[in-house]
Amino acid sequence: MNYRLCPSILSADFNRLGEQIQIMEKNGIEWLHIDVMDGDFVPCISFGMPVIRSIRKETRMFFDVHLMVTEPERYIRDFVDCGADSITVHAEACEDLERTIETIRDAGARAGVSIKPATPLNDISHLLSDVDMVLLMTVQPGFGGQKYMTECTEKIRELRKMLDEEGLDVDIQVDGGMNEQTIDIALEAGANLIVAGSGVFNGNIESNLRIMKQKLGRFYSEGD
Ligand code: DX5
Ligand code: ZN
Repeated sequence: MNYRLCPSILSADFNRLGEQIQIMEKNGIEWLHIDVMDGDFVPCISFGMPVIRSIRKETRMFFDVHLMVTEPERYIRDFVDCGADSITVHAEACEDLERTIETIRDAGARAGVSIKPATPLNDISHLLSDVDMVLLMTVQPGFGGQKYMTECTEKIRELRKMLDEEGLDVDIQVDGGMNEQTIDIALEAGANLIVAGSGVFNGNIESNLRIMKQKLGRFYSEGD
């Protein structure tokens, strides 16, 4: 099981995006979380292919693309072409979730499925063996800087139990409200990929990265 911090560039300073991505890379970050919002599945519009294509030239980091987009199947090939290594789609946004996951695989990317805090695990339990990662939203998708919803902790625990019982090596990624405090709660419950936007980019980036990576490292060696 790999434990990783996945900084979300949604909270980056877009005027200095390339520079901030280099800071990530210099500090040993391997996964970059890239939030695409369409103004339909979620109220905001963030950015899309041109931005991803241009930062792809800047780094060899793994691009973990989180599509908060209605009917994402329409765009999967395009996102892979512009540099996505992993694509996560929302169960709530897909008319045919199985086919969408197949499309991600056919395009050659890692496949992730995400659910909002109110969506039950039952909605995705039948396809756990078809995905590489489940992204559990721990805030309502659509905005950075929200507070971790503590009621999600049990869901993380339950999902890890389901995966263990089925003997599946599937990553659990958590997204929303992760900071120095909440990271411990999520790790302890069974998450192994931690997305953090404001927790990384607000304040001193290097010291935020150091503190959060230390927490991951400590947990990893304890859990080993
Ligand atoms: C929210 C996005 C998140 C966001 C997290 O819908 O999916 O990835 O960047 O931001 P923080 O870490 O600030 O809650
Ligand atoms: Zn995200």
